[in-house]
This record gives sequence, C-alpha cells and structure tokens, in this order.
Amino acid sequence: MGVLISSSVLNADLANLEQELRRFENAGADMIHIDVMDGVFTESITFGDYVVRSMRPHTDLPFDTHLMVKDPAKLIPLFARAGSDIITIHEESSCDIAACLKKIRQLGKKAGISVNPETDVARIFPYLPLCDMVLIMSVKPGAGGQAFMNESTDKIKAVREEADRLGLDMHISVDGGINDETARLIFEAGANVAVVGTYLLNSDDYVGAMLSIRVAGR
Ligand code: DX5
Ligand code: ZN
Repeated sequence: MGVLISSSVLNADLANLEQELRRFENAGADMIHIDVMDGVFTESITFGDYVVRSMRPHTDLPFDTHLMVKDPAKLIPLFARAGSDIITIHEESSCDIAACLKKIRQLGKKAGISVNPETDVARIFPYLPLCDMVLIMSVKPGAGGQAFMNESTDKIKAVREEADRLGLDMHISVDGGINDETARLIFEAGANVAVVGTYLLNSDDYVGAMLSIRVAGR
C-alpha cells in the first residue's frame, strides 16, 4: 500500500475552514490532521470538539485528531462524538494511557499514541497492541513551521521493528517539518503516514506539493 498524507489545518485560514478543507481534499489529502491544544500541554489553544463538529459535514476524509492536552480522558468521548476517526493521545499526558487507548477503541475509533522528541520511544512499546497508529513528533509540539529533527528516524525504525516483532500491522505517522526531502527520510525509516502542515500551505501549487510527498514514498 502507498503512503498516506494527513493534511494539518493548524496553520490554515481558520476563518475559512470549509474552503481550506475543500482545497486539501482537491489536492489529494488522505486525512485531515487536527491539532487540539489545551494551553497547558502546549502554550497555545486551538480547536475544541465544537470546531470539529462544524468541520465534519464539509469533507468525507477521516479526521486524524491529535490531542496535545494534559488530560485527554474526559475529552475522548467529546471528540469521538464530534466526528473524529483517529484519536491520538500523548505518552507524556497525565492519564491512564492504556485505559484511554481502550476507551478510544470502545467508542469505535482508531487509537493512536504520540511521543515527544525528548521521550524515549521504548516507553510506548507496552501500548502498541492497544494502538492502530503511532505518531512520532519530529518537532517540539505546539507550533507549525519548525525544522524536522533528524533523530526522529531512529525512533521510526525502532517502532517499526517492535511492531513487526509483535506482528502488528500499524500506521506510523510523523508530525513536524515534513517536506518532500524529509518525507523521503521518514518513509525510508518505516513510516507510512506523513503529517503535512506549512510545506503545503506555503506552496502555491497544492496538487504538486502533495504529489511530491507521495512520490517520496515510492
Ligand atoms: C505541531 C503540530 C503539527 C503541525 C505541523 O505541534 O502537531 O501537526 O501542524 O506543521 P508543520 O508541517 O508545519 O511542521
Ligand atoms: Zn499534530
């Protein structure tokens, strides 16, 4: 199977979300990446479940919801109800990780776990059987437009190896600083999903930019 592109709305024109979703869809995005920030886990505050609910009628693409929040437990049902398809929590958040991942699946959604750059990736290994996706942060969480950290490729390799060892066919997604060049590095290391934010948004040719990421995965 080819690679998947999850298009991030973080730096899009948030006053025109309907139009932005359509542009992502027309350019060939496979998913929409929604960065939920709570002002505690990260400095900024972004989208709540009401925003996700408003976006839902405007595209059929899956919503890849990245919860950069301190306490995701109570938010999981809200985002599930609002129309999220994948819900990813952080290893560094303050919650019972296993219970949260199980809850996401009980609600009929795909469960993801994310790790920050400074976190030892082995910390998530015990949770892999409870996950459909691992999201490797290749920048410090909280803002778009940062430079890709090259060390992330070792983490991708380690997760892919462990998933294979466990016989798990899971998505490995990478978030932060993805462009046509860094996309090649992450796909070679074993990732199959690229979160793409400002590389696409800064391009005046969305279709071409999206294609350049897809070509990097061939
Ligand atoms: C950063 C967010 C990312 C962000 C990526 O904390 O999790 O999803 O949108 O943006 P770029 O692709 O510009 O690094
Ligand atoms: Zn993200």
